[in-house]
Amino acid sequence: MRRRFIAGNWKMFNGPAATSEFMSSFVSKLTASEDIISNIDEGKMEVAVFAPFISLDTAVKCKNDSPLIIGAQNMHWEKSGAFTGEVSGEMLKELGCTHVIIGHSERRHIFHETSEDLHKKLQSAIQESLISVFCVGELLQDRESGSTFDVIREQLMAGLKAMDGKDVAEKIIVAYEPVWAIGTGKTASSEDAQEVCAFIRKLLADTFGEGVSEKTILLYGGSVKPENTASILAMKDIDGVLVGGASLKPDSFLAITKAAVR
Ligand code: 13P
Repeated sequence: MRRRFIAGNWKMFNGPAATSEFMSSFVSKLTASEDIISNIDEGKMEVAVFAPFISLDTAVKCKNDSPLIIGAQNMHWEKSGAFTGEVSGEMLKELGCTHVIIGHSERRHIFHETSEDLHKKLQSAIQESLISVFCVGELLQDRESGSTFDVIREQLMAGLKAMDGKDVAEKIIVAYEPVWAIGTGKTASSEDAQEVCAFIRKLLADTFGEGVSEKTILLYGGSVKPENTASILAMKDIDGVLVGGASLKPDSFLAITKAAVR
């Protein structure tokens, strides 16, 4: 059975002070939730927050010895160098991060990160032993023109090209986030999300073999809320959620986490 992965992507919200406030509330509620903690202890679930760079140190320190995972939202592919404004995977690791989001649609579309950039980032994260949450997803115009599957195939295959199957299964979590469902209140129906996740799993099977495909964790993201989490997670190929807005407040993120307990 694949583990569930419940992740909050804070985007450009929660500076250090707000992070400290979030953590003191969330971590105590998380550790007091016996059902969540026993799921985590039994390897059935992981819970993560992806904080802004400037808040990562606070997040790592405030998580204490709780099992909450702390990750970053981006990284550069080089270890160091003349790249003003960038942060490397090596630096993230030094800080205590274990995970990183790569290729969020806001990075692809607002900051024009290319598939080649993302491939280099994924490879660098693997070298640093960071787990990547690799995002793929189509624009509304892609969906309307019937090219959803072509877009997903291109993004997935370009990102994972020539990778070792074991690395894919163990170091990469794939998040399907239809761009039209992000921050819009429009959730893809659970069936639509399942259809694309099944397609991703099939692509992984065709490329890396059934063993890799069956082990790889797939997430859905886009207007996930406490109320729709259970129906999304009921889908066969969806193992977790990547949550934006509803992860910013401890109570709603905890409610989403509780809905994922099994
Ligand atoms: P929302 O949950 O705010 O729609 O954001 C989704 C997202 O982009 C998570 O990475």
